[in-house]
Amino acid sequence: MAKGAEPRIRDSWGSRLGVILAVAGSAVGLGNFLRFPVQAANNGGGAFMIPYFVSLLLLGIPLMWVEWTIGRYGGLFGHGSAPGIFHSLYDRNRFVKYFGVIGIFGPLVIYVYYVYIESWLLAYAVYALTGAYQGADQAGMQAFLRGYQGIEQNRYFSGVGPAYLFFLITAILNMVILSRGIRHGIERLCKIAMPLLFAFAVVIAVRVLTFGAPDPARPDFNPITGLGFLWNPDFSALWSGKVWLAAAGQVFFTLSVGFGIILTYASYLSRNEDVALSGLASVSTNEFAEVVLGGSIVIPAACVFFGPLMIAPLAASGAFNLGFVTMPLIFQQIPLGALFAFLWFALLFLAGLTSSVSMLQPAIAFIEDEFRIPRKYVAGIVGLITFAATHPVIFFLGQGVLDELDFWAGTVGLVVFGTAEVILVAWIFGMEKVWKEIHEGADIRVPKIFKPIIQYVTPIFLLVILAAWFAQDWIGVIRMEGVAAENKPVIIATRVALTLLFGGLCWMVHLAWKKRKPARVRGGKR
Ligand code: TRP
Repeated sequence: MAKGAEPRIRDSWGSRLGVILAVAGSAVGLGNFLRFPVQAANNGGGAFMIPYFVSLLLLGIPLMWVEWTIGRYGGLFGHGSAPGIFHSLYDRNRFVKYFGVIGIFGPLVIYVYYVYIESWLLAYAVYALTGAYQGADQAGMQAFLRGYQGIEQNRYFSGVGPAYLFFLITAILNMVILSRGIRHGIERLCKIAMPLLFAFAVVIAVRVLTFGAPDPARPDFNPITGLGFLWNPDFSALWSGKVWLAAAGQVFFTLSVGFGIILTYASYLSRNEDVALSGLASVSTNEFAEVVLGGSIVIPAACVFFGPLMIAPLAASGAFNLGFVTMPLIFQQIPLGALFAFLWFALLFLAGLTSSVSMLQPAIAFIEDEFRIPRKYVAGIVGLITFAATHPVIFFLGQGVLDELDFWAGTVGLVVFGTAEVILVAWIFGMEKVWKEIHEGADIRVPKIFKPIIQYVTPIFLLVILAAWFAQDWIGVIRMEGVAAENKPVIIATRVALTLLFGGLCWMVHLAWKKRKPARVRGGKR
């Protein structure tokens, strides 16, 4: 352990399909089925899709290629997480590896609340079958959710006990999968879960699109009007900076780029394995799940049962309300509704599970690779720490802890990370070298136009977003404008905890390199 210079076999993917499904598994999540339709509906419907596809082309796809490429590159030096991977790109600089800390911190923090939401989905899948919320109306369904979350005591729940139990099961499940490693854990999960969740989503989408107009008196209550709401462009929205930010944010979120996760997954590839086609395949899989399937479920369904005029207010009420209240209410009104509701929650649970395992893997890879501690222990330690860290989210849910975590890790962290990463790659490592690296073992040639895009357009686009976001939203959030006075202590405590975590990770990076420095500088490549 001391020098860490002995060669050692890192885990690897079992098949090409396996790694594509795993990256797609990380990308396909709640974002595709809930966040995307809500963002699109709230930001000008069809007009949203123009900035969305532009962002996909100029940010999403280039970053996906960059992350697959440098992840594989860093893996050749035995590094599976962003600090080591950044260091292998620029090893003359002592500081660059600390930027990489964001790529462990971000996913770790997101995991802490994501796993809890994931456990609600498991619970609701069970409740759908047992009929626990049968017969509830809109208000009843909302009360059911609040009772389950422990925000209030009511006729459905007297405490947060059941939620805790489902959380325990979900956390253990994640830990067991991760302790089995890349090939036998994550890959095996994704090979089963991904086809299954696509099948569920297709069944639900087909059901929704074949609803027709159930009530002859209200012919516009039909799925096609719902699709129109999503797809008919309102071009005035194109000139709104807010819409562009929302679109770029959704592209980041849905592809899981800018988080450090794809770097980690790609680090388990060997040099001659393709990244160009695989990266594109993972984007395409995610976009199919998002635009085609995700776009054909909640909005058209809401239009059939609540009417075109209710789509906007429902979307504005948020992704959780649509997922946990509106959709189960809709399914109650159709034949075999319990089964469809089960499929809906099972779909979201599987989508969540294949994402959540990816969020812990950077931290696990970091400790495993840089400290040479066997995976089984690392998965246990990281699992236990995050398990403990979720408790404030459970017990202070009403006080904004979840949103606070999401802001720092899911909004600020990823843009800073993405910007640092693309500048490092295109300007310091060097565009010619990256271009060569992308095509090493590649099954396709990346169109030449992406060279100037990666070098100029993506970084400038990112810097503009960073500046605009900072001016528009961040200052207010940082100064806690709009936070109720009684919630401020909780928010401040959350920030202190996040700072300590970030500092702790930096310190671990420092330790890891201090130990190994003599071997690595003089020994050259390893
Ligand atoms: N991409 C996932 C989704 O669409 C969610 C997600 C956001 C994510 N950030 C992530 C997944 C980081 C893994 C890692 O729902």
